[in-house]
Amino acid sequence: MTEIEPLRIGVCGVGTVGLATINILQNQSSLVAARCGREVRVTHVGARRDHPDHNYGDAKVSRDVMDVARDPDVDVVVELIGGTTVAHEVMKIAIEHGKHVVTANKALIAEHGNQLIALAEASGVQLCFEAAVAGGIPVIKSVREALAGNAVSEVAGIINGTANFILTEMSNKGRAFEEVLLEAQALGYAEADPTFDVDGTDAAHKLVILASLAFGAPLSIDAPAKQGIQALTPEDLDYAKTLGYRVKHLGIARRAGGRIEMRVHPTLIPEDKQLAGIDGVLNAIMVKADAVGELLLVGPGAGGSATASSVCADIIDIARDHGVTGYPLGIPAGDLTPLPVIPWEEISSEWYLRLRVTDRPGVMSDITQKLASRGISIESLVQKASKEGDTDVPIVILIHAVPASLMNDAMKAVVALDEVQSDVALIRVESFD
Ligand SMILES: NC(=O)c1ccc[n+]([C@@H]2O[C@H](COP(=O)([O-])OP(=O)(O)OC[C@H]3O[C@@H](n4cnc5c(N)ncnc54)[C@H](OP(=O)(O)O)[C@@H]3O)[C@@H](O)[C@H]2O)c1
Repeated sequence: MTEIEPLRIGVCGVGTVGLATINILQNQSSLVAARCGREVRVTHVGARRDHPDHNYGDAKVSRDVMDVARDPDVDVVVELIGGTTVAHEVMKIAIEHGKHVVTANKALIAEHGNQLIALAEASGVQLCFEAAVAGGIPVIKSVREALAGNAVSEVAGIINGTANFILTEMSNKGRAFEEVLLEAQALGYAEADPTFDVDGTDAAHKLVILASLAFGAPLSIDAPAKQGIQALTPEDLDYAKTLGYRVKHLGIARRAGGRIEMRVHPTLIPEDKQLAGIDGVLNAIMVKADAVGELLLVGPGAGGSATASSVCADIIDIARDHGVTGYPLGIPAGDLTPLPVIPWEEISSEWYLRLRVTDRPGVMSDITQKLASRGISIESLVQKASKEGDTDVPIVILIHAVPASLMNDAMKAVVALDEVQSDVALIRVESFD
């Protein structure tokens, strides 16, 4: 039997995920070789500074990551730098030099994936990004390969571990957003600049990738409507709990006729739904598909080792030389069909509305009249106890499904009442029936 040449790996960026990837490939080299029928060897590392405590084995080290992308002795370039500038350039150069590429970079794939995938397909190389969505959960392969015989109607889930950690702490312990965010940073869950974690941008990037795979559409960076978790208060999470709901930050991509909904926002979920019980830094993705029904994939959505597990799975696919489908988005880039996205204002859902009102006779009927006159019906209305010393009382209203445009119009009319304060919380409710 002729021995197959080792697969030569160039790793660009040796931070949390880069180093964990090198460690797995070194520590599990026999297992990986047995599974691939060939050795997988890190031959070149791109690191812009010294890391005296890192062990790269026999790999050559370059300060300029472009040297890795151009190295004729590298077969696969693994981009673990992050961001969309240098990382973009590295991927482009690597593909142009005939190398397969693997990345964990959701921002790069969401923003430049269409161009990079077309380039990779035209160059006959693989472009893999399992680690880009939900870290260690094999959701890309599940949707693209394991569910290839299904028409997917919906993908929804908790796809940012930092946001989920913050909401879990706020909900279970009544802690304030700012305080938990600081702890998330200290624990290494949140980025040094956590903006994308808390404002929904990171989740939107992942949703863009999931929607594309699920519905066979090009990546569409601007498609998701986006709300973060910054405005949520422990008080609202607690009221939601007393009504039998949990608040989760969800990404939802759903087929509706010939169009799709794409949105990322805090959401009330009935507590008996599986998604409602996914706490801490865990991620969970629910997929609804015609043949299989409903699946829930749960696991670590971040962390060096868990994310590197997905990076290594992509490397191993390439080493086995079956490259799986050959098409990063499941079908050739040229055959992807754009789908119109339903504007946020048109998307109908149930709603949680929390108001603060002056406790005066007739206020309730004024509020319910504003809603009823717009055809909005109330599922339940609860007056909460006011805090000691407060003259206002909180009112929590659950509202039957209406589009956001109607809900916003009604809310404006309600807030215009003299007795109603401007401090309002309006959150979508999803029952996933
Ligand atoms: N961490 C996670 O849990 C996780 C989960 C899923 C996906 N991802 C994705 O994985 C990628 C890497 O994330 P990470 O957490 O490993 O980030 P990280 O710890 O910040 O590592 C990034 C590394 O890239 C290096 N780097 C930056 N610019 C460079 C350049 N011009 N030349 C050479 N090296 C450069 C940095 O060097 P210095 O050390 O000199 O700064 C650092 O070592 C990102 O796309 C991220 O979104 C991460």
